[in-house]
Amino acid sequence: MAASAVPRTQPRTGEAVADDKRVVVLVSGHGSNLQALLDMAAEPGSGMAVVLVAADRPGAHGLERARRAGVDTAVVRTADHPDRPSFDLALRDLVAARPDVVCLAGFMRILGPGFVRAFPGRILNTHPSLLPAFRGAHAVREALAYGVKVTGCTVHLVDEEVDHGPVLFQAAVPVEPGDDEDRLHERIKQEERRLLPLAVRLLAEGRVRVEGRRAQVVTAEGVSR
Ligand code: GRF
Repeated sequence: MAASAVPRTQPRTGEAVADDKRVVVLVSGHGSNLQALLDMAAEPGSGMAVVLVAADRPGAHGLERARRAGVDTAVVRTADHPDRPSFDLALRDLVAARPDVVCLAGFMRILGPGFVRAFPGRILNTHPSLLPAFRGAHAVREALAYGVKVTGCTVHLVDEEVDHGPVLFQAAVPVEPGDDEDRLHERIKQEERRLLPLAVRLLAEGRVRVEGRRAQVVTAEGVSR
């Protein structure tokens, strides 16, 4: 049976009920991290709603995942804007739907100050390396080429520098003999799909405290390390 015929879950639609935390997700590609977020929001009593999925290209498979889950979608293409600042502002205006969290889930565009300053402390990104190692668009390939024994993923708050903001979670992933980029990346993405929904939930619930470069989870007992 075609995967598209039967949704994996009964997700809530893009309409948030009154107290739901509102999550906007930006994607460029496959959208498996987006799917993890949609699945989390679809859990009964999650208190979370993905209210918009936006992509920078119409062919992003993540848009199809969003449609299947009944979530509004939008496309903002850089080619339709004369320069990066106007792309940033178009995306900002699109996302202005009172999000509690804006989540970059495989969004392969650099966001400038026009966007980042509109959502202070509310933008999360996931990156497939242990930052600050291997920033940029080819992190998995570069980690393999460097010959590292361990790489991983980083879920961090977004600031005005690329792959730079305060680190909320990291997970290590050993490089195995015979790994190629796809195989290693898929094991890294398994960790991202575990950590990103957790991070989005904690940030949406106001349970993340940021001081300088340090992002900590606020628990009943205090804060995490
Ligand atoms: C993730 O590894 C993310 O860190 C990187 O792109 C990948 C997106 O995967 N920027 P998917 O589209 O969520 O499957």
